[in-house]
Amino acid sequence: MLVAERIEQARAWRGRITGSVGFVPTMGYLHAGHLELVRRARRENDAVAVSIFVNPLQFGPDEDFARYPRDLERDLRLLRDERVDLVFAPGVEEIYPPGFATAVDVGPIGQRLEGASRPGHFRGVATVVTKLFMIVQPQRAYFGWKDAQQVVVIRKLVADLAIPVEIVAVPTVREEDGLACSSRNVYLSPEERRVAPALYAALARARALWQEGERDAETLRQAVRTSLAKEPQIRLDYVSVADAATMEELAVVDRPAILSLAAWLGATRLIDAGRRGGAGAPAYRGCAATSPAPRGHAATLLRTSWPSSAASGLRALRSRRCWCACRGSTGSAPDRTRGSGA
Ligand code: PAJ
Repeated sequence: MLVAERIEQARAWRGRITGSVGFVPTMGYLHAGHLELVRRARRENDAVAVSIFVNPLQFGPDEDFARYPRDLERDLRLLRDERVDLVFAPGVEEIYPPGFATAVDVGPIGQRLEGASRPGHFRGVATVVTKLFMIVQPQRAYFGWKDAQQVVVIRKLVADLAIPVEIVAVPTVREEDGLACSSRNVYLSPEERRVAPALYAALARARALWQEGERDAETLRQAVRTSLAKEPQIRLDYVSVADAATMEELAVVDRPAILSLAAWLGATRLIDAGRRGGAGAPAYRGCAATSPAPRGHAATLLRTSWPSSAASGLRALRSRRCWCACRGSTGSAPDRTRGSGA
């Protein structure tokens, strides 16, 4: 595994690869969600590149850039175990040398939801991802559905700029109680961690209504609000039921849609999402990053389309434990009640 800090090293590596390259951009502090992307890339490509770069451009001035968790040595160990070929881990000056001025702006799609709560966030994401794509020049790049709007933004970016990269979106990996794996979960106090699965439960409640036939988007949003109102420690930022292609709020769920929310637990801002229409589904496996799954075991992961109700998800989990648990591893405007995800 080559660890490159300089653009020219990564480019030289790319020049030597003749087969397909799968690329997983990350900000490091890896968990099972990141590793799921890496494993998918490993299965589908001849070579795998991972970037680790905490991108200052996508953090607002009052956000957690300085305290964002970092542990490069541990990340490198995990990636070595996954048989990754290239880790590109540049410093800030390598990506943004003095005088750097160009930005990639994806327009209105990046100004809604996360973009409204975090002005400039998606401009920062689109700029760094474009630069990373230019350096790594992958055939495929892997992103997680947890950050659903990010997937939509990146797909728009490669379509608009005719960047020849296939964007592969991977189901959300969750703790057994439903909490989506996130590098920011380490910020949670024990009490906040206890209530955090309520975010998933609220998505699951809306999903159950949808399955019962409810198509009124506001009713689904209201179900999320009502569900979260039971947890006074959770301050909802927004809940959205949006068109999966444009991220515009829907009045009626009559097309592929993304249900997403952002909420504060104390000083920590978490996001989560589910979707209807299209393939893919959340996976439950626990967030602790562990050694690679034994070959063939991936098929035993529990998968559902949209978050299953927390109760039925847990029931199914108890009867079909996932491998890492077995291994004992550790239209209208969105509701915006307050006003940091990837
Ligand atoms: P980061 O938050 O490190 O996430 C890297 C990738 O892992 C993203 O595509 C994200 O959606 C995915 N991911 C995070 N949690 C996941 C989970 N529980 N299950 C599945 N996938 C998950 O997202 C970023 O970094 C940055 O914005 C980046 C794209 C690297 C640009 O700086």
